[in-house]
This record gives sequence, structure tokens and C-alpha cells, in this order.
Amino acid sequence: MKTIADLIRDRFGLPTEAGRSLPAEGTVAEILSHRIHRRYKPDAVSDETLEIVLAAALSAPAKSDLQQVAVVVVRDKTNQATIAGWIPDMPWIGQCPVFLVFCGDHRRMRRVAELRAKPYVNDTLDMFMNAAVDAALVMQNFVTAAEAMGLGCCPISVVRDHVEKLSDLLALPAGVFPVAGMCLGYPAQAGWISMRLPPALTVHTDRYDDSKMPALVEDYDRRREARHATPRESQRLPDRWGYAERYGWSEDKARQYSVPQRHSFGPYIRRQGFGLA
Ligand SMILES: Cc1cc2nc3c(=O)[nH]c(=O)nc-3n(C[C@H](O)[C@H](O)[C@H](O)COP(=O)(O)O)c2cc1C
Repeated sequence: MKTIADLIRDRFGLPTEAGRSLPAEGTVAEILSHRIHRRYKPDAVSDETLEIVLAAALSAPAKSDLQQVAVVVVRDKTNQATIAGWIPDMPWIGQCPVFLVFCGDHRRMRRVAELRAKPYVNDTLDMFMNAAVDAALVMQNFVTAAEAMGLGCCPISVVRDHVEKLSDLLALPAGVFPVAGMCLGYPAQAGWISMRLPPALTVHTDRYDDSKMPALVEDYDRRREARHATPRESQRLPDRWGYAERYGWSEDKARQYSVPQRHSFGPYIRRQGFGLA
């Protein structure tokens, strides 16, 4: 019998006895089995299915019940193709049967304040974060619900590289900002489990302690590469950093952020009317 412990081992590449007596079934098993899908069958996703997945997504908890999220379903295939055209190295954006954009929505609260003739005196970074977190929680529920219905997803934060054009295309007003796009469709392949950092690094007891970080990351790199070795041609920025003999997650992420990324997002958010006090 496949157990929850087996799924946890698959997720972290580490053995555990937690969940040894529990069959690999139900919500926790589905969450542990999560994987991104970037290839989809051409089969359409029905309106009914999409409505169910969105309803489940919108059942996420929300800070102070403010519900600061807006989801744009990109029904217009020309618009989807336009977005996909901006990001040619991610063809799944254009190929997925349904593409959506999850946004933080601070505009609604400001309008509610106007409707009720109250001053709105909280144009803070915290309010921006609340909206971003609300949108992220809805996104995560969307992924979980979609997977439970046999669908597959891929969030797309790279849309934020094109945030001005995207805002124009989707008519996002001041106070509304994209958190990520989302590809949705029926998976064409089984996909694979992406190994996570060990809980010894991400879960702390009583006080934060990352003193073992270098060794834990080293071990993680090794475990992860043993399962899915990064092909030499996938090493990032070889012109700048050369080809590493031992490439791993940490080398990849350090290279990823060795070049500026999305420095226009902060100014965009301010132009969208956030004071971020
Ligand atoms: C907020 C967010 C943004 C993401 N953006 C992209 C993206 O732009 N393109 C992409 O192909 N995958 C994207 N992903 C997918 C991640 O690469 C993927 O979740 C990660 O590699 C872990 O794999 P797993 O989800 O299968 O466990 C994104 C995921 C999240 C949560």
C-alpha cells in the first residue's frame, strides 16, 4: 500500500515514518502529489468545470474578510496569443486551453470607502501585501481544486515582466495589479514531483535558526540532482558564469538573481496608486 509517508519521501527525497500507517488518499495526498503541468491536451475545459474551480479558489481565507482579489479569465484568444508572444520561451502560455490572471485588488476597498462616505487612510505597504497575499491564497486554492478535478496548472509570474502592457490589455485600473498568470488544462503528461528544501531548513522550532543552512543546501542540491540532473545545456548564464562541474538548485538560483529582474515592478505599483507608506 502506498502511504502518506511515501509521498512525503517523494517530496523531500528523505525517509520518514510520519504517515506510514495512512493510505496515500484524500486531500493531503493530493496536496503532497502536487506538480506543475506545462503541457496540455487540446481538450477544452468546460464552463461548468471552470466555475467550480474558481468557486473553490475563492473559498480561500482572506485577510479581515477584505477579499482583495480579482481574477481575469482571458477568454479572448487573441489576447492570450498576445501575452504568449511576449514570453516566447514559455509556449505553454499560448497552448493552454484556459489562461487567467490573478490580481491583487485594492481598488474595491477604496470604492467601498467612497460608497460608505468614509475616509480611506490606510494606503500602506501592509495593505498592498494583504492584497498580494489574498490573491496568492486564491491562486493556491485554484491549483489544488484544479488538480482534484484532473486538471493541471502552471502559475506564470513572468507576466510581471510585461506589467504595463498586461495592465493595458486587461484594462487593470489603479489599485489592481497582477500577481501571476495561470495556465489551466488537462495534463498531457504525468509530470513529476519537484523536490522541496528539507523541513530542517524551512521549519524552525521556537526560534529561527539557519546555522546548518550551508550543509543542508549542499545535501539538498545533491539529492535533487541525483533525482533530476540538470542537463549541461540548461545551466543558466554560462557566458557569465561558465559551466559548473556540479550544478544544483543553489547554483541555479544564485545565477538567476545575479542579474536584475523586474526592477520596473516597484515603480509600476506606485503608478497604480499605491502609496506604500
Ligand atoms: C507565484 C508563482 C509563479 C510562477 N511563475 C512561473 C512562470 O512564470 N513560468 C513557469 O513556467 N512556471 C512558473 N511557476 C511554477 C514554478 O516554477 C513551480 O511551481 C516550481 O518549480 C515548483 O514546482 P512544482 O510546483 O511542480 O512543485 C510559478 C509558480 C508560482 C507559485
